[in-house]
Amino acid sequence: MEFGEVIEKRHSVRKFSDRPVERDLLDAVVRVAQTAPSSRNSRSTAFMIIEDKDTLEALSQMRDYGSAFMKDAAAAIVVAGDDTKTDLWVDNCAISATFVQLAVTAVELCSCWVHVNGRPRLKNEPDGEDAGEYVSRLLGLKDNMRPYCVIAIGYAPDVQD
Ligand SMILES: Cc1cc2nc3c(=O)[nH]c(=O)nc-3n(C[C@H](O)[C@H](O)[C@H](O)COP(=O)(O)O)c2cc1C
Repeated sequence: MEFGEVIEKRHSVRKFSDRPVERDLLDAVVRVAQTAPSSRNSRSTAFMIIEDKDTLEALSQMRDYGSAFMKDAAAAIVVAGDDTKTDLWVDNCAISATFVQLAVTAVELCSCWVHVNGRPRLKNEPDGEDAGEYVSRLLGLKDNMRPYCVIAIGYAPDVQD
């Protein structure tokens, strides 16, 4: 797909078809995202591909606002930053996540960004449990790996959906 078409076609999609997403497409998306620039080439961003339905369901419960649709995604890519590699891990993650979304669009898939970093699990309890702590525990991430966002991925819904 031409770059201009990728830019034109990319938009957030929160409803997906039941069609599974081919693993090689997800691997290709991650390879593209790994080429993203990073501060001092610190390469602090890591990607985790999630295809397991139970894990997608659990991820959809990371917050009580803006993440419920994750349960119907065919897959997700967790974008996490290593905070020991650079103080700019957040910036690096944001660029990497953008690369993920553009690469997803280029292979005719749809996506939506679900934010994690700095977000409370419950909208009305801003000082309560952190979505990042929940995601870290769920995925067994090491302390230095900070979940930044999760990109829900799937094919566009069928016309009759
Ligand atoms: C930093 C960031 C955080 C976002 N967090 C969420 C989120 O938690 N849940 C959600 O449904 N959409 C989220 N989005 C998607 C935005 O709502 C969406 O990009 C915006 O409304 C513009 O729509 P578009 O992507 O179709 O152009 C996020 C996007 C960004 C860039």
